[in-house]
Amino acid sequence: MSDSSGASGAPMPFPFPDGPMATAPPEFARRRSECPLSEVVLPTGDPALVAVRHADIQQIMSDDKNFTRDLSSPDAPRLFHNMLLLEDPTILLNMHGEDHLRLRRIVASAFTPRRAEQARPEISKIIDRLLDDVESGGHPADLMTFARLLPTRFISQILGVPEDDGEQLLEWVSAWLSFALPREDLDRAANDFSDYARALVERKRAEPGDSLIDHIINAHDVEDRLSENELISMIRMLIIGGNETIANAISRSLFSLLSQRQHWAALLADRSLVPAAIEELLRHNPPGGGTTGLIRLATADVELTSGSGVIRAGQGVFTPLVAAGHDPAVFPDPEQIRFDRPKTHSTMQFGAGRHYCLGVHLARVELELTLNALLDRFPNLRLAVPPAELPWSEGSYGVGLTGLPVVW
Ligand code: HEM
Repeated sequence: MSDSSGASGAPMPFPFPDGPMATAPPEFARRRSECPLSEVVLPTGDPALVAVRHADIQQIMSDDKNFTRDLSSPDAPRLFHNMLLLEDPTILLNMHGEDHLRLRRIVASAFTPRRAEQARPEISKIIDRLLDDVESGGHPADLMTFARLLPTRFISQILGVPEDDGEQLLEWVSAWLSFALPREDLDRAANDFSDYARALVERKRAEPGDSLIDHIINAHDVEDRLSENELISMIRMLIIGGNETIANAISRSLFSLLSQRQHWAALLADRSLVPAAIEELLRHNPPGGGTTGLIRLATADVELTSGSGVIRAGQGVFTPLVAAGHDPAVFPDPEQIRFDRPKTHSTMQFGAGRHYCLGVHLARVELELTLNALLDRFPNLRLAVPPAELPWSEGSYGVGLTGLPVVW
């Protein structure tokens, strides 16, 4: 393994600082050429490795045999002390092997490309209603409200959760993603959500329907394919997976398009570019910024085929997706937004391997319909303040905009 140190000779603290306006951390570029697999110190003080080359990140994330997402053992490195989500062994993202496959199969049929296509009218209806509110409120308007409400209304619909509960769900999601909240607040959020989910399940049992939640309850009650705790955790996973990611993808993509308005103009001139633009905008400015990614634990010694180094059994390795998407060996001039990039490699923004994003097709449809609706209704959309004045979140896993004031 190559040298991993910062200027002092000791491993550097991770996450690395972002570039200006929450752009990719410049440290990734330095490490890519000098020490592509290197040691870092996590905020908890635990040591871990960080991989920064596209090829290495892809190899690690695709290798479900030699790496696990189950970090529940006491020796596993912890990213944050106070973020229970990343360690919770009962959520899909952190499960391994047969249990992961069993649970994933239960919900997979609700997330096929066909289901995502069928959801278009519903998603469009939600977008139209929310944009009516934006339009009637006049400008400047904060598009962050739209970006937050669209995914929560839609995931509520899939899950059969009342629309009015959306704000409450969003509060729980931010608690789960926060590493700054005191432990008692986190525990309260976890307990409140469990009570809410159990009450919801009971209501659905009394009045069954055909939403995804009914399907999951059926898998528990009739087919005995998952436990009651797994049922609650699955609901939690879908609420987490489907909210913050989309809200941040919408706001960060709009930030890129409106702060470099030639790209907005390009989409106005040629709508056929929208699908490629979505992939490119996610690559360039991923929803969670520099910390997007997760730790995996090696269960055996693994040699990276690129020659970057060896990961020893028991070591944790972080795979930042923005580092993969900004590797110039795969995406030349990675800082440039180019809708005509050849599709030779995955941008990795939806992951790889068995944990590959379950909501990928829905996410693409939500983003495509959003961009087209905004281009249709607000062709003159502009940021209401200089890009450098936009507010970014702090204390949360995955930095995002907290406001996106626009005029048209
Ligand atoms: C732009 C939007 C999205 C992005 C960038 C994204 C990204 C990702 C990534 C990178 C992973 C894998 C993480 C890893 O293995 O390290 C993942 C997993 C997952 N995502 Fe998404 N996601 C998005 C939207 C959604 C939506 C809309 C849903 C659900 C409605 C969703 C549900 C999930 C679930 C359930 C998993 C865990 C899958 C498993 O562990 O088997 N995601 N996502």
